Amino acid sequence: MRTIHPQQVIKHKRDGLMLSEQEIQGFVQGVTDRSITDAQTAAFLMACFLRGLDAGELAALTSAMRVSGEVFDASPLSTFTVDKHSTGGVGDKTSLLIAPILAAAGVANKTPAGVPGICVPMISGRSLGHTGGTLDKLETIPGFDTQLTLARFAEVLRHCGACMIGQTPRLVPADRILYGLRDHTSTVESPYLITASIMSKKLAESLNALVLDVKVGSGAFMQREEDARLLARLMVETGTAAGARTVALLTKMAEPLGRYAGNWVEVLECVDILQGRRHPLSQDLIHLTNVLAGWMLHLAGDAASPEEGYLLSNKLLATGAAYKSWLEIVAAQGGDIAIFDHPETFHKPAASTTLFAETKGFLNVIDCTEVGWAVQRLGAGRAKPGDPVSAHAGIEVHAKIGERVKPGQPLVTLFAENEALLAEPLEMLRATYQIEPDRPADKPIVRDVIRA
Ligand code: URA
Repeated sequence: MRTIHPQQVIKHKRDGLMLSEQEIQGFVQGVTDRSITDAQTAAFLMACFLRGLDAGELAALTSAMRVSGEVFDASPLSTFTVDKHSTGGVGDKTSLLIAPILAAAGVANKTPAGVPGICVPMISGRSLGHTGGTLDKLETIPGFDTQLTLARFAEVLRHCGACMIGQTPRLVPADRILYGLRDHTSTVESPYLITASIMSKKLAESLNALVLDVKVGSGAFMQREEDARLLARLMVETGTAAGARTVALLTKMAEPLGRYAGNWVEVLECVDILQGRRHPLSQDLIHLTNVLAGWMLHLAGDAASPEEGYLLSNKLLATGAAYKSWLEIVAAQGGDIAIFDHPETFHKPAASTTLFAETKGFLNVIDCTEVGWAVQRLGAGRAKPGDPVSAHAGIEVHAKIGERVKPGQPLVTLFAENEALLAEPLEMLRATYQIEPDRPADKPIVRDVIRA
């Protein structure tokens, strides 16, 4: 690779010139091998933040970051790889349902070599800010190992059709360095840098297709629809340019998705659904799961349309095929599947309290981000990276936005490891769970679909 001069690259971006692929590749390589200083990287990030990146620059940055370390190679499996990524929400547990649904479709349609016809190589994250993390939820299952080697990851995929792990230290190291510096330089909220960060990690999974769930609303990182729409468009363009069939759905994040938000309680809700029960408060979760899985099945060629995919996903849930796959995946990753015989007995928070309606009217959730922070303060999330999380902390919602409620009706139950952790989150929820005289406007959960 031709040598680049970091100051020149920074100057070009600062002055609004377009960076060449070589400049971007050389810069990312220098960031990764630490020959470029943190001060230079910080200046580069700020220049990108202020100037933005055009489609070619964004594709080059994403690609250079993707290959900055080891990449999962799915080609020996000769299967169709598809994943879903959410930009983060409260109570968003669709990954726990989607992985086994797609795995069930894959094992029903094996390749001539006996590999599931569809595989979901899911590399997930931990809780971030007010949003929950798939790894923290899965790790509440005794024995469940999210730190598999890539060789074992491939083996589980070969047998089960899906595997859910955390990022390895060697996967996309450039993102770890860049993300750390973005956090310290106020350059996190750039749609261009977010796109390169998310897409470099997802494309390192060697994906044939990707469905993005871009959340919008008071509980999302992107609260304004125009920001979410730009991010969705950039991610779809970047995924498509990298050769993956990519679709983004803009979806509503105005209240916790489903019935629970937390760690084990979210697993509990998913197991309940996988075992064939459909609690009315889980309907939004089941619907969004089927929409996202429906798109994945469509992109994988198992359904002629996303609508047909929706019906197939729902059938795989209803027949217990997805539950069978769930048990296989959990067992293959070392988890104790016996707890799913009586999952409710495993939920043992030491303390709980309930918020009740004080007046009559219609429920509204003013600020869903505040609900996420309340869940985090109960112990389900982290104040800083590396903090432990509580398995049993979380909330159970008893009513949804727009529901008519009367005085004394329970709205939310809070769970924590001790009484002292309940008071502040209870007040936070009291401030945001409001009863209003008029029913708030109802909006569909899927706002739009963004395609290439
Ligand atoms: N999640 C990521 O992985 N990267 C970002 O930049 C933002 C959210």
